[in-house]
Amino acid sequence: MIKLAPSILAADMMNMGSDIRRVLEAGAEWIHLDIMDGHFVPNFSYGPALCARICKEFPEAFVDVHLMLDQPFKYLDAFIGAGAKAVTIHVEADGDMHNMLKLIRERGALSGITLRPGTPLSRIVPYLDDADMVLIMTVEPGFGGQKFKEEQMEKITRLREMGYKGEISVDGGVNMSTAGICAQSGASVLVMGTALFGASDMKEIVETCRRLG
Ligand code: DX5
Ligand code: ZN
Repeated sequence: MIKLAPSILAADMMNMGSDIRRVLEAGAEWIHLDIMDGHFVPNFSYGPALCARICKEFPEAFVDVHLMLDQPFKYLDAFIGAGAKAVTIHVEADGDMHNMLKLIRERGALSGITLRPGTPLSRIVPYLDDADMVLIMTVEPGFGGQKFKEEQMEKITRLREMGYKGEISVDGGVNMSTAGICAQSGASVLVMGTALFGASDMKEIVETCRRLG
């Protein structure tokens, strides 16, 4: 079954709580938090305090944190302590990937690794044993509402051909026209921001995506 992970980067910042409630009531299981430091990506978003508030207000949500940070090791404890259920780090970031992924797991969260569209899949292969999830970026990280890079689907098919059994999530430009190819390629989680928060019928999107897997 395909899980939907609404990206709150596309939510109404002035009505974050009601937007999160809306997607959870529509049947989404995950909530995707994009954390940006203004260095790794040319944008800022939010920090552990918002993560903690969301986890407290919506304990039923699986909060999936995507760290677009130069130095993720500095914040792993802060986000896991705030209640994050999955923490994903970029292979291009500073720090020891094995150690960080192991620490995330030891702290009881799902360990995720991700890579920019321009980074070859070979860069994450050494870390797959430590990664419960691979997040495939189908846009250049930093902003929502970009165009889906379909050639990135090759990374998913190659991961499945290698026998990778963990979660594979797709992030960026996922909508009702691109969700199908993500599922066919082997994805198990779809991050969706713009297409979901801009939709008139969220429930329909959640249920349609669920049927893809
Ligand atoms: C971009 C983020 C994505 C984004 C979702 O750096 O990682 O999660 O918010 O993109 P859209 O809005 O295209 O679904
Ligand atoms: Zn993301």
